[in-house]
Amino acid sequence: ARRVKLAPSILACDFARLGEELRAIQSADWAHVDVMDGQFVPNISFGLPILAAARAASPLFMDVHLMIERPERYLKDFAAAGADGLTVHVEATAHIHRAVQQIKELGKKAGVTLNPGTPLETLRPVLAEVDLVLIMSVNPGFGGQKFIPQSLERIRTVRRWLDELGSPAELQVDGGVGAANARAAVHAGASNLVAGSAVYGRDGAAAGLDRLREALK
Ligand code: DX5
Ligand code: ZN
Repeated sequence: ARRVKLAPSILACDFARLGEELRAIQSADWAHVDVMDGQFVPNISFGLPILAAARAASPLFMDVHLMIERPERYLKDFAAAGADGLTVHVEATAHIHRAVQQIKELGKKAGVTLNPGTPLETLRPVLAEVDLVLIMSVNPGFGGQKFIPQSLERIRTVRRWLDELGSPAELQVDGGVGAANARAAVHAGASNLVAGSAVYGRDGAAAGLDRLREALK
């Protein structure tokens, strides 16, 4: 079995204690950073200064999920602020192929994602180029939503496509992931799990991470 990477989303953490909240997930693999612009999604989260602060506070891989319109305008800035990986939505730009190339030219890992209502076919033209595919298992914009069960079938399809290509890309899933469905997501082919409320939402991030790892055993 492949080793699954855990990527806690700092969207669910206490921003007043960002440094501590990042230390609490030091044993995780990545920190997932959700940037929302109030245009592409109906919510505003945070942007460049928070990423830069997180970068300064933690050696974790900064996995930046850009829920912003025309992300190509800001790729350079997010790279400079400390992103290790940048994931862009196919719906947010008319030039997804160019955006992916730009991320690679910046020397960062390139990810592509799509909303639950967007056909998977929209990924295919860039599938061989990317380092990560993110299957959204909620409609992006908010933490704490319920996992959409049809996402498992979408994970299976993309897993098949990546395997056919011989691609080593990460297959990430984001939204409503927790101890109740983590195993099913991995079984469907996910290699990388984002979790916000399941990690930070209850009795602290250490306990949340333990619960997820336990569920994956
Ligand atoms: C949703 C974000 C997610 C969110 C996940 O728009 O992309 O990364 O933080 O939060 P949970 O795990 O609580 O669904
Ligand atoms: Zn996200």
